[in-house]
Amino acid sequence: MGKQIRVDKHVAAIAHKRRTVFSHHREATQPLLTVSGIKVDEPQQMDGLKLLAKLPNNSLPLVFFDPQYRSILDKQAYGNEGKLRGKKRSELPQMSDALIAKFIAVIEKDLMSSGHLMLWVDKYIMVSGRIQELLAGSRLQIVDMITWDKQRMGMGYRTRRHSEYLVILQKPPVRAKGVWKLHDIPDVWPEKIENGDRNHTHVKPFKLQARLIEAVTNPGDVVVDPAAGGYSVLKSTRSVNRHFIGCDILEV
Ligand SMILES: C[S@@+](CC[C@H](N)C(=O)[O-])C[C@H]1O[C@@H](n2cnc3c(N)ncnc32)[C@H](O)[C@@H]1O
Repeated sequence: MGKQIRVDKHVAAIAHKRRTVFSHHREATQPLLTVSGIKVDEPQQMDGLKLLAKLPNNSLPLVFFDPQYRSILDKQAYGNEGKLRGKKRSELPQMSDALIAKFIAVIEKDLMSSGHLMLWVDKYIMVSGRIQELLAGSRLQIVDMITWDKQRMGMGYRTRRHSEYLVILQKPPVRAKGVWKLHDIPDVWPEKIENGDRNHTHVKPFKLQARLIEAVTNPGDVVVDPAAGGYSVLKSTRSVNRHFIGCDILEV
């Protein structure tokens, strides 16, 4: 009888294994990507929408998008725009919400089935509901969010900014099994950008990006960033043996 119980437990464990939504491998493979007139694995100056238009539909496993939100600058309005520390930030070409929504729509077309868009947002975008406006009409679904603890104190009239957020969206069909293969990434991620690595005012944590790239792509896949700034995503792809296609409207 004891033996029978052991057998039942074993069968139950196998059944559980089959039912689980976790997987440590990726079945989804990127279709062969043929591109012309675009640099691969290096920075390039180009309008992000033009770059995205040159990429085939349904072809990408992963796009990072870190827009230059005009709305954040309006909200923050610390009175230092154009001066001192606000100067670099306010000099960058800004994106209206309509332009950001257009980027998201084109990214959605370029993503392969179950591909991911990792969208950097500020807390104002999240709590004001503006995220929903940016996604209006999109089939992309929010599947997760990571808080980046910057390990560094920023500005703020009340609390001081210490974090940014990465919203993880997936093109249907939404699934984790066979698509997302790392299961040890915490949803609060501490990473300090050392001064030597701060080549852009909005540089993002390249180690976190590298882990996420490993989670949802295979070695040799192409990762895209159409508003690359200081090219932290390029650095991330290099560290994990993936290819990069990206640009910024400004010269590097
Ligand atoms: C928030 S920053 C990106 C920072 C980047 N994630 C990093 O880690 O360094 C946004 C960038 O978008 C660029 N940008 C603004 N409009 C653009 C457009 N139409 N096409 C491409 N890049 C654009 C800005 O020049 C700026 O460098």
